[in-house]
Amino acid sequence: MDQSLITTTGSKKACCVTGGTGNLASTLIKHLLQSGYKVNTTVRDPENEKKVSHLKALQELGELKIFKADLTVEESFDSSISGCEYVFHVATPINFTSQDPEKDMIKPATQGVINVLKSCLKSKSVKRVIYTSSAAAVSINNLPGPGLLLNEEDWSDIDFLTTEKPFNWGYLISKILAEKTAFKFSEENKIDLVTVIPALISGNSLLSDPPPSSLSLSMSLITGNEMHLNALKEMQKLSGSISFSQVEDLARAHLFLAEKETASGRYICCSYNTCVPEIADFLRQRYPKYNVMSEFEECLSIAKVRLSSEKLIKEGFEFEYGINEIYDQMIDYFESKGLLKAKEV
Ligand SMILES: NC(=O)c1ccc[n+]([C@@H]2O[C@H](COP(=O)([O-])OP(=O)(O)OC[C@H]3O[C@@H](n4cnc5c(N)ncnc54)[C@H](OP(=O)(O)O)[C@@H]3O)[C@@H](O)[C@H]2O)c1
Repeated sequence: MDQSLITTTGSKKACCVTGGTGNLASTLIKHLLQSGYKVNTTVRDPENEKKVSHLKALQELGELKIFKADLTVEESFDSSISGCEYVFHVATPINFTSQDPEKDMIKPATQGVINVLKSCLKSKSVKRVIYTSSAAAVSINNLPGPGLLLNEEDWSDIDFLTTEKPFNWGYLISKILAEKTAFKFSEENKIDLVTVIPALISGNSLLSDPPPSSLSLSMSLITGNEMHLNALKEMQKLSGSISFSQVEDLARAHLFLAEKETASGRYICCSYNTCVPEIADFLRQRYPKYNVMSEFEECLSIAKVRLSSEKLIKEGFEFEYGINEIYDQMIDYFESKGLLKAKEV
C-alpha cells in the first residue's frame, strides 16, 4: 500500500464519486479502489438492483460505500462527502427526449453543482473537487474550419445554442453553465476546483444493459442503428469533429489531476480527433467482416476542429490507448453481448 494514501490516523484516504450508476463513474471507482482509496459513491436509488449490481461487484476490490443522493436535493451529498479528501463530481442529468430541458437538465445540473460544492465546504475535509465537464462546453462555435485547434481557453457559443436550439441543446447548455457555475462558486468560496473535459467516452464499460449511449453512438456505423447514427452525424456537424476519450485513460486522468498539486483550471482529456467518414474508412479496413454504413454525405470528410490535450500532457499525464484499442474494445464489448452481425458471405 502506498503510504501517501494513509491518513494521519492510519486509515485509508477517502474520496467521493457522484453518480456511481454511470459509465465513467463506475470505471473511475474501479480505478480508485485499485489505487488504494476508500470510495463513497452516490446513486439516486440504492434499491435498484439492476443499476447497482456492478457497484456490488466492485466492493470485492476494496472499501466502497453506496449512498443515496440527488442533485436536486440540497444537503443530500453531505454524508457521502464528509471525511473525503477528493470529490469527483461526475453525475449529470441526461435526457435526450426531454420536452422541458430547462427543468430536466439545465436547472438540476447547475443547482446540483452548487449543492455538491456546498457539501464540500461543510465537510472541511475536501482538498480538491474534480468536476467532469464536456467537450460540449468547448467546441460548439460558428467559426470556419478546418484547422481549428481548440484548448482550455475556448468556450462554446451559448448564444448560438440558445438561438438555434440544435438537437440536444438542453444538455449542451447544461454542461457549459454547470462548469461556469462550478468555477464561480469555487472562486467565491475558495474551493480548489479542477475540471476535466472529456470528448465522446469510448472503449470498455463495466455497464452492460443497455450499453452506454456513447458506446452505441461510436458503434453506430457498424450496428446501423439509425437514431445513434443520426446523433453521431449531428455531433460532427455541431462540434466540428468526432473526438474520443478512452474511458480508462479518462478515469486515470481524473485521479492524476486530483493528486497533482500543480493542477489548476480546465483540462481537456481527448484520446483521438477524427470525423465520421474517416471512422468509416478505418472500420472497413480494420474489421472487414462487418458491414460499415456509407450514407453520410452531409458530413465533412475532414474534422473542422481538433481538441488539444497538451495542457494535460505537459502536466505529466500519459495516454495509454489510441483509436485501434478504443475500437477493438468496443467491438469485443458489442460482440460479447451479441449485438453485432457479421457480413453474410
Ligand atoms: N458520455 C459521453 O460521451 C460524455 C462526453 C463528455 C462528457 N461527459 C460527461 O461525463 C460525465 C459522465 O458521463 P457518462 O456518460 O458516464 O454518464 P452516464 O452513464 O449517463 O451517467 C450519468 C449519471 O448521472 C446520474 N444522474 C442523473 N441525474 C441525476 C440527479 N438528478 N441526481 C443525481 N444523479 C443524477 C445518473 O444516475 P441514474 O442512474 O440514477 O440516472 C448517472 O449515474 C457526465 O458529467 C457527462 O456530462 C460524457
